[in-house]
Amino acid sequence: MQTQWLRVGVFVAAMSAAGSFLISTARGEEGERNLPKVSNPTWKAECSSCHMLYHPGLLPERSWTRIMGTLDRHFGENATLDPAAREEITRFLVDHSAERQQNRRSIRINQSIKSNETPLRISTTRYFLARHDEVPEAIFQYKSVGSAANCVACHQGADQGDFSESKVRIPR
Ligand code: HEC
Ligand code: HEC
Repeated sequence: MQTQWLRVGVFVAAMSAAGSFLISTARGEEGERNLPKVSNPTWKAECSSCHMLYHPGLLPERSWTRIMGTLDRHFGENATLDPAAREEITRFLVDHSAERQQNRRSIRINQSIKSNETPLRISTTRYFLARHDEVPEAIFQYKSVGSAANCVACHQGADQGDFSESKVRIPR
C-alpha cells in the first residue's frame, strides 16, 4: 500500500515538472535569453545619474562587491554613498548577480569570466568582446555612443536587461 502511494506521488511530481517545462518553452526564446526585470529604488536613484543602469545579472557577485567597495575611485569619478545606501545596493546587486540568474546571457557572461578574474566592466568580458567583434571600434567612439559602456545607445531596452537582436539600432 505504501509503495503505491509513493508511486502516485512520483508520478504527480513528474507531471508537474513536465508542465512547467512546457510553460517555460512556450514563453519563447527572447524571454529566456533576456534578463528578468528587477528593481530597487535606491539603486535606480544612485546608479543612473552618470550612466544607464547596468542590470545586476551582467556581472558576477565578486565584481559587484569590488565595484561597491571602490566607489571613491569609480572609473575616475567619486561615486561615494552613505553606508546604508551602499549596503542596500550591494545586497540588491549580489542577490541578482550573474551566477544567480537562469537566463542564458547571464550564464554565458559568467562562464566567459575566468575564476581568478574580477572584471569591473561588462564591456571588457570575453562574452561582450565575442558578441561585438563585428562592430567596428570607430562606432563605439561616435559622439552619439561615447563608449562601449553606453549599451543603451545601440540596445533599446538595455536598461531593462533586454538585448534582443531586434532592438539593436546603431546610431549615426
Ligand atoms: C559620479 C558618476 C557615476 C556614478 C554616480 C556611478 N557611476 Fe558607474 N561609471 C561612471 C563612469 C564615468 C564610468 C565609465 C563609463 C565609460 O567608460 O564610458 C562608469 C562605469 C560603470 C560600470 C562599467 C560599465 C562597462 O561595462 O564598461 C559599471 C558596472 C558601473 N559604472 C556601475 C555603477 C553602479 C553600480 C553605480 C551605483 C552604485 C554607479 N556605477 C554609479 C560614473 C558613475
Ligand atoms: C555601438 C553599438 C553597441 C553598443 C554601445 C553595445 N552594443 Fe551590444 N551589440 C551591438 C550589435 C551591433 C550587436 C550584434 C547584434 C546582432 O547579432 O545582430 C550586439 C550584440 C549584443 C548582445 C548579443 C545579442 C544576441 O542575442 O546575440 C549582447 C548580449 C549585447 N550586445 C550586450 C551589450 C552590453 C551589455 C552593452 C554595454 C555594456 C552593449 N551591448 C553595448 C551593438 C552595441
